[in-house]
Amino acid sequence: MIRAKRDRHSLSDAQIDWVVDAYTRGVVADEQMSALAMAIFLNGMEPGEIARWTNAMIDTGERMSFADLGKVTADKHSTGGVGDKVTLPLAPLVASYGVAVPQLSGRGLGHTGGTLDKLEAIPGWSADVSNARLREILADPGCVICAPGADLVPADKRLYALRDVTATVDCIPLIASSIMSKKIAEGAGSLTLDVKVGSGAFMKDAQTARALAETMVRLGKDSGLATSALLTDMSRPLGRAIGNALEVEESVAVLAGGGPADLVELTVALADEMLTKSGVDHDDLAERLADGRAMDTWKAMIRAQGGDPDAELPRATHTEDVVAERDGWLTETDALAFGVASWRLGAGRARKEDPVQAGAGIELHAVVGDKVSAGQKLFTLHTDTPERIPRALEALTPGFTVGDDEPAERASVILDAVK
Ligand code: URA
Repeated sequence: MIRAKRDRHSLSDAQIDWVVDAYTRGVVADEQMSALAMAIFLNGMEPGEIARWTNAMIDTGERMSFADLGKVTADKHSTGGVGDKVTLPLAPLVASYGVAVPQLSGRGLGHTGGTLDKLEAIPGWSADVSNARLREILADPGCVICAPGADLVPADKRLYALRDVTATVDCIPLIASSIMSKKIAEGAGSLTLDVKVGSGAFMKDAQTARALAETMVRLGKDSGLATSALLTDMSRPLGRAIGNALEVEESVAVLAGGGPADLVELTVALADEMLTKSGVDHDDLAERLADGRAMDTWKAMIRAQGGDPDAELPRATHTEDVVAERDGWLTETDALAFGVASWRLGAGRARKEDPVQAGAGIELHAVVGDKVSAGQKLFTLHTDTPERIPRALEALTPGFTVGDDEPAERASVILDAVK
């Protein structure tokens, strides 16, 4: 199989079924799967191979079903970015309409944050929820954000860890099958994908992001899951906060009817997609954020998972301000630079088993398009380990620019859609 893929041949259904299952059982060795993953990375897969690979991954574990819940279920997945905390306000917003939202989420690795790491900044909150409890919480208050059980696509747990250390993550067939196997196995009624485009995302340009979105939407539809995707801008951080507790704080601001415009725009657009696919009227989305109904669902969700939604969030022990060196316009805040800087401050992890700092991260006091003057505070770095600040600044400093000309306004954070 390694030789076939190396020499640009397609794998048969039987070969795919066997290798995915055998790797999950430990019969195929890591070095062999590494070679196969690299051959797939270099030579790609046909649509039929990707579909079969996805199904073979699903078949290594359990398939969940919410058919007996008595509620419509809707799921959302983001391919990951910097400052992307949308799941936090989105899940309770959609659940406030009576739609059940099971969000089986992940932890951060590298420069992108993880939803579970963010919520763990809330005192008492736990990501571990049994399948039985998951159903109870989906019944009321209606949304759960938790870690997937060990039986949900075990093939992906092994394969993703291997890809992470063999430079085979950013490959459309492997990303699409990894994400869609989990989402199809999860068994929700519909799926809305947020495919990020730009320096802070896996897909750096609109063309490859669109190809990934089309591959995933096709995989979903072919297996009976109503799926659509938005392509959204990740060339700069989303919102004005990066880092676990800082992002929870910003999400709560959105749930209180405030928050940065780009974050609100994306939250509302994704909620619109999810509710439309669920067949639910929702012409008052912004009102739900303003009048506290989504906030009530958020608080109930946090309490249902052991957290105290009113507790003070942890703060880092040290801060450092970055100021503008000259007058001008902020023309660039590169998502990757900010993600790496925040990671170095302690908000992210280098290895799966590393702890993260709840309070670490970056606050953006200015965003692209703002007029700034010399000495004005642009960003504040937060960390419990101040010895990390110089390395964080090394990543951050080349990633923002103050220029002479006002930059063109970004019309929308949403670039495109695949339906
Ligand atoms: N997220 C996943 O779950 N899998 C990938 O391969 C990439 C992002």
